[in-house]
Amino acid sequence: MARESESGLPIEPVYGPAELTGWDPDGKLGVPGAYPFTRGVYPTMYTGRPWTMRQYAGFGTAAESNARYRRLIGHGTTGLSVAFDLPTQMGHDSDAPLAHGEVGRVGVAIDSVEDMRVLFDGIPLDRVSTSMTINAPAALLLLMYELVAEEQGIAADLLTGTVQNDVLKEYIARGTYIYPPRPSLRLTADIFRYCAAEIPKWNTISISGYHMAEAGASPVQEIAFTLADGIEYVRTAMAAGMDVDDFAPRLSFFFVARTTLLEEVAKFRAARRIWARVMRDDFGARDPKSLMLRFHTQTAGVELTAQQPEVNLARVTVQALAAVLGGTQSLHTNSYDEAIALPTDSSARLALRTQQVLAYETDVPATVDPFAGSYAVERMTDDVEEAALDLMRKVEDLGGAEAAIVRGFQKAEIERNAYRIARETESGERVVVGVNRFRLDEEEPYQPLRVDPAIEARQAERLAVLRAGRDRGAVDSALDALKRAAEGADNVLYPMKEALRGRATVGEVCGALRQVWGSHTPPDTF
Ligand code: 3HC
Repeated sequence: MARESESGLPIEPVYGPAELTGWDPDGKLGVPGAYPFTRGVYPTMYTGRPWTMRQYAGFGTAAESNARYRRLIGHGTTGLSVAFDLPTQMGHDSDAPLAHGEVGRVGVAIDSVEDMRVLFDGIPLDRVSTSMTINAPAALLLLMYELVAEEQGIAADLLTGTVQNDVLKEYIARGTYIYPPRPSLRLTADIFRYCAAEIPKWNTISISGYHMAEAGASPVQEIAFTLADGIEYVRTAMAAGMDVDDFAPRLSFFFVARTTLLEEVAKFRAARRIWARVMRDDFGARDPKSLMLRFHTQTAGVELTAQQPEVNLARVTVQALAAVLGGTQSLHTNSYDEAIALPTDSSARLALRTQQVLAYETDVPATVDPFAGSYAVERMTDDVEEAALDLMRKVEDLGGAEAAIVRGFQKAEIERNAYRIARETESGERVVVGVNRFRLDEEEPYQPLRVDPAIEARQAERLAVLRAGRDRGAVDSALDALKRAAEGADNVLYPMKEALRGRATVGEVCGALRQVWGSHTPPDTF
């Protein structure tokens, strides 16, 4: 009797040679580092270079986060990943009324170039790649990063990193959008063009499925809706006059890794094969780098439990193994205490050590795509690919990702699956160790890390000093120039950079664009 996978696909108790009868290894697999990239985007994968160990981190003030980054670098992390607080993500200053209670809570508070300089103090920006999880204000944080590098004497064409810059998924699952879809997509295209011209090694977007998965999407929904978003971004950039090979090599992706390892490996392999074919056959991309689906993975936060939190170490290890066996380029492993509070220094270090055990104590990195040719995983890869293509066609029939979002299609599909998961957990059909089976009568005490509430007043003081020390007239004229560009077709990043250089704040720059583009109000999906 076949068990159902997370995507509702059959997992047979035994697979055999029949799965591969008539199966075309050249067409389905090829070789690592070549079309259709099923086996991985690089010929040597981890035998050439381990994946980037990139721990998502940030809280409190820029100084506190800077200290955490330097500790992580000291522990061996090989890439930075910045978490911003919600006021920054929503384009409000720390002293705005809307920011009250959120300053520095779920990430670092950044109001201006001054904070950005403190965030990267003592970190040479030509020797580290930095991911920034920022969407609606992605342009601002990218430009402030460039301005700080400029102050360090580092040329923009040496900078490597990523801005998430994926607003479509914010409308679907995460919610940190500001402007309506049309101006948001224009801003995305402006970032693509700006980076192609000014910061050519920068990954301009991290098209994300992670948050949809955390909201309840199945593996098939996760890759189908994410790749459909990717297609929408490609169409937007080409409609803005860019040639596909001018921007596609710098697109990147971001997925989750669940505990259901086999289907997750199949999911990653299927996603690479779908994207390679779409870029070659639907968009005529010719540069091999345009066909490569390079991605970051974060282990599934939603699968962590507050009960018996140390059990999460086992979950994160299995999830991280799924990402590595699936060929991820970059990985964040959640801390075991993440279901309770912000990670402590020791739990963040332990999460990184989990990756280091996989990279340096196991033999998994010794060979590329070890599941290739497996009766089970090749069949599951085909099944996930077929189901994802079916769902992508449904999105296409609705007019593409943006049109489907406006109708609330993706959100409704994900909510339906989230409800199924909740029901199965309630009934005990879906076992969650420590929660609905193998429970403890009494949980042991845990000491979480707390963010100092005084941080809000400290940020407000920094803003007051910044505003008193700058040329207000110059800031106002720079913001006016930005508004004129937003009203027209000029790339807004150039006037935006001059406003930020003049110490305009995140709230002022995003506010200027709100005045021109307005703010998005979500459709009611019920
Ligand atoms: N052979 C040859 N070259 C290799 C190689 C190999 N085996 N392995 C790596 N390389 C090269 C690559 O070509 C690259 O060089 P290039 O830039 O000149 O092409 C360089 O080494 C670095 O390798 P990668 O680009 O593969 O690895 P990076 O880590 O630099 O980039 C990425 C990975 C996925 C492309 C990039 O976009 C990235 O780092 N993304 C991270 C996104 C992230 O961290 N997001 C966090 C989100 S948290 C969040 O959303 C909030 C919360 O709610 C979850």
